[in-house]
This record gives sequence, structure tokens and C-alpha cells, in this order.
Amino acid sequence: DKGGHRHFMVKEIFEQPTVLADCLTHYAPGDAVVIPEGSVDFSRTDRLILVACGTAHYACLVAKYWFEQLAGLPCDVDIASEFRYREPPVSEQAAALFVSQSGETADTLAALRYATGKAAHILSVVNVAESSIARESDLALPILAGVEVGVASTKAFLCQLGVLANLAILAARQKGRIDARREAELLHTLRSLPALINQSLALEDEIRRGTRALARAQTILFLGRGPMFPMALEGALKLKEISYIHAEGYASGELKHGPIALVDKTVPVVVLAPRDALFDKTISNMQEVMAREGRVWLVTDKPGAAAASDGVWKTLTMPQVDPIFAPLLYAVPAQLIAYHTALHKGTDVDQPRNLAKSVTVE
Ligand code: F6R
Repeated sequence: DKGGHRHFMVKEIFEQPTVLADCLTHYAPGDAVVIPEGSVDFSRTDRLILVACGTAHYACLVAKYWFEQLAGLPCDVDIASEFRYREPPVSEQAAALFVSQSGETADTLAALRYATGKAAHILSVVNVAESSIARESDLALPILAGVEVGVASTKAFLCQLGVLANLAILAARQKGRIDARREAELLHTLRSLPALINQSLALEDEIRRGTRALARAQTILFLGRGPMFPMALEGALKLKEISYIHAEGYASGELKHGPIALVDKTVPVVVLAPRDALFDKTISNMQEVMAREGRVWLVTDKPGAAAASDGVWKTLTMPQVDPIFAPLLYAVPAQLIAYHTALHKGTDVDQPRNLAKSVTVE
């Protein structure tokens, strides 16, 4: 049942404020993170290994910024198909965390089995609670997103980020890096997100109009810095999956190390950038694009829009949030840009060609 929506994908995009709010309340009903299903102790963990495929891998890349910045916990993020065959050393002081919507992805399951007996903890973040990955973990944390039908993952990604943010806050507390006041403050910021996501969903019409030009492009670049870099990867993946337009995500600082060679007036460049500490550097990157007649679509907040508007092709002004948790908010325009570009192209949004919802073979 699409609940009055045209596709499951857009229904699931619009469910996000509700499912994220439920997920956040589940892991932090008050001013502290509570992991109800069991205990996990990061205090003696000296490394966190995060392994997944596709969109779930990008959730891990976002979480690396959180675990490292909040908890001071070094992270290795790997693609499951690389991790399992590379057979990397896994120390007894490491925790290994596997993220999977389906809980059945063959490579992620094989990676989990490889780490079992080596890492101190085997953790998973899954949507399907009775899945193989959940069953074979010491602790399986459900994302509580409900059934996701659209092949392109949307609400599951957001709830993966919700669980990972809570876990990073827990790790920060257990490692003595934050006090109770800071924990309450971080949780307060997280809890503000469902309402802000709702506000950003109201930008759908503006996004729909903007994507008309994107649908004619051959190549689209996505740029971001810090925790918005993996969001650029996710924005590009979502777009190529459902619109079949070639898209690449890059760290903004990498632009001049190669991808700028692609830029001319036919190449739209979507920049996902709240006004953060490095925003001035992002402005320089946009100027480099504009100097080559590239069309910049800047997705930012009010202060970012005020600082950068000169020469920018389009600006989408998002609600303001602490940049550390901005990926949860900027997931929404990334999804809607992909969705509406695909609609303009007339592709099958819920069942994109060549893709399966659950990849149980390698
Ligand atoms: C992208 C997408 C895929 C999955 C990947 C992992 O929209 O849905 O990239 O994220 O196949 O699947 P799970 O999370 O089930 O392990």
C-alpha cells in the first residue's frame, strides 16, 4: 500500500520524520542513551571496524566522523566484499560493527563471520530483526524503520544514521569524552531533526522544479566535506540507481585532484554544505566550478546561502542544525533530487533495472 503516494520510494521518504523520531526515542528515551537489548562496552575498545555494502556503507562512513570526533575512537570503514577477501588483522581490542537493512547481504554476512572469534564484540545494525546478520551478532540493534519496499534505500539509511549517532554518543560517554550535560545537548540536537526533516520535505516543489535541468544532464557531480562527504557519495548513488544518470560523489577538497576536468557548462554540481567551520573552503571549490561554467546547485542553510550566493545557479535553503548531525537532514534533499530527476526521465523508481532489494549472492 503506497498510502496515496505515487511510489513506495516517496512514501518512505515522507515516513522519515516519524520513523526517525521512533528510533531516536527507542535508543534515548530521556537525556541519556540506553541500549536496551544488552550491553556494549566501548571503554576498552581501541578501534571500531565498520563494514557494509552500498548505502549502508555510506552510513558507516558518516558514523566514522561521529565515533572519531565525539568518542575519540579510531574507525576503519570497509566495503564488505573487500574486507572479507583482504582478510585484514582484527585485534581483540577491536569491536566490529556490521550495518545491513536486510540483514542477509552475502558479503556483509561473510565479513561478520570472518570477524567472529577475533573482535571483542560483534555488533550489527539491522532493519530485519530475525535476519542472519542479527542472529549471528553478540548484539543486534534494530533500526525500527519498518518494511522498506523501494529498492533504493531511504528511510532505512536515515534510521541507520539514527542508531549509529546514539551508539557514538554512548561510546563518547563510556570513554569519558563527554559529560551528562553534553550528552543531553547532543540528544537534544538529534531530537530536533524529525521536525527539521518535516520542514525540508516542504521544499519538494522547489526541488522538483530544479531537477528538470538535471534530467537532461549526462553527468552530475556531488560534493561535500566532513560528514557531508559520504552524503555526496550517497546522493550520487541514489541518483544513478533510479535515474540512470552518471553521477559521482567527491570530497570537495578532491575536486582539483581530478574531477574538475569533467566540469563544463553541461555538468551540474550539487554541493551539500551547511555553513560549517570549513565553509569558506567550500566557497572556493564552488568558484572553481563556476569559473569553468559549471552550474552549482548549493544545498545549504540561511547563513550559507547569504555567504555564497554570488554566481550560484540554484540555492536550496535548508533549516539550520549543528553541522555534526547535518547528514541526517541533508539525506532528504539528496533523496528528493534523485526521485524527481528520475520522474522527469520516466524511469521505474521503485524497481530500477538490474537491481535487487536484497543481495544474497555475491
Ligand atoms: C542503495 C541500496 C543498496 C543497499 C546495499 C546493502 O539504495 O539500497 O546499496 O544499501 O545493497 O543492502 P543491505 O543494507 O540490505 O545490506
